[in-house]
Amino acid sequence: MFAASRVFGAAQRRAFSASARDLSKVTVLGAAGGIGQPLSLLLKLNPRVTDLALYDIRGGPGVAADISHINTASKVTGYEPTPSGLDAALKGAEIVLIPAGVPRKPGMTRDDLFNTNASIVRDLAKAAAKSAPDANILVISNPVNSTVPIVAEIFKAAGVYNPKRLFGVTTLDVVRASRFVSEIKKTDPADENIVVVGGHSGVTIVPLFSQSSHPDLVGNANLLKRVQFGGDEVVQAKDGAGSATLSMAMAGARFAESLLKAKTQSGVIEPTFVDSPLYKDQGIDFFASKVELGPNGVEKIMDVGKITSEEQTLLDACLADLKKASCSEDSLPEHAH
Ligand code: NAD
Ligand code: LMR
Repeated sequence: MFAASRVFGAAQRRAFSASARDLSKVTVLGAAGGIGQPLSLLLKLNPRVTDLALYDIRGGPGVAADISHINTASKVTGYEPTPSGLDAALKGAEIVLIPAGVPRKPGMTRDDLFNTNASIVRDLAKAAAKSAPDANILVISNPVNSTVPIVAEIFKAAGVYNPKRLFGVTTLDVVRASRFVSEIKKTDPADENIVVVGGHSGVTIVPLFSQSSHPDLVGNANLLKRVQFGGDEVVQAKDGAGSATLSMAMAGARFAESLLKAKTQSGVIEPTFVDSPLYKDQGIDFFASKVELGPNGVEKIMDVGKITSEEQTLLDACLADLKKASCSEDSLPEHAH
């Protein structure tokens, strides 16, 4: 079991007991799903979260009732699947996590989810732009490379777009890369923090082993394949029952925790897919690189730094692919309008 006491130490729990400054409402949209449930559980165990709002088109109140019995201080509320329920779930939120949408089945790419998930994310983004325009929006629903630009377009159309507050959650790629490296090198995975840049699908996932303490891993084709296609490993193993949920819940909870921590601490850095200046000249508006987080969301976007020629080749392939993913609301499927 993922014990809160092992993740959040006693000192941290005391430091974040109840001062008004630390009141943090976190909303999960898609809270009754495969990711939504364990993610909500982990957020309930996080002492930085004081108010947890759970919304789903089915089952939100049930999940909330269950989680609310856990003996941590935060208040948990489940909302009815109505427009007013959604608005109430969003009102006052500081962080909105969106894992709503369908997962892959074997043989599908993440892009195959676009037709269904684009409209789900679009509608939830419209509600967030209205009821939580200043919240940090954390997009988990796939294809992340396209769903994040959709949220940006919706917020722009509503006149409330703040690029510092929109994040595609790519933390699972970092978590996987770090774990796979620790298995090869027989190290403590907690000591590994592999930088992964680009996007969140196949060749757009670019791990930079040259920047780790194991530069010899650049060129390890099997490791690269596991990092780029780790999602497929899980989809195949689940054999039609969905994609990664538990590891994703951990990754989403970690990213939310980093954002909350960055309200009061400097130097909190996570790779994440954001509106980025790095490759705009190549027509790429969103890119994942190391981002320093702060009280206003994005504090500083770092460039990819020094990489090897082999990694540059991977980055070139990534950029070519990302160019195709950029999307505006106009390119939403007809039924989504
Ligand atoms: P799931 O089907 O188990 O759960 C999705 C939930 O979303 C369901 O409970 C469903 O009722 C809900 N939902 C659907 N439409 C909704 C709406 N309009 N409003 C609110 N809730 C709605 O799927 P899952 O396994 O939890 O995966 C969810 C998404 O996350 C998928 O698109 C998957 O590809 C993606 N994912 C992303 C990453 C990542 O690294 N970013 C990792 C794993 C999965
Ligand atoms: C993952 O990386 O596990 C997720 O994006 C889900 C998927 O479809 O692979």
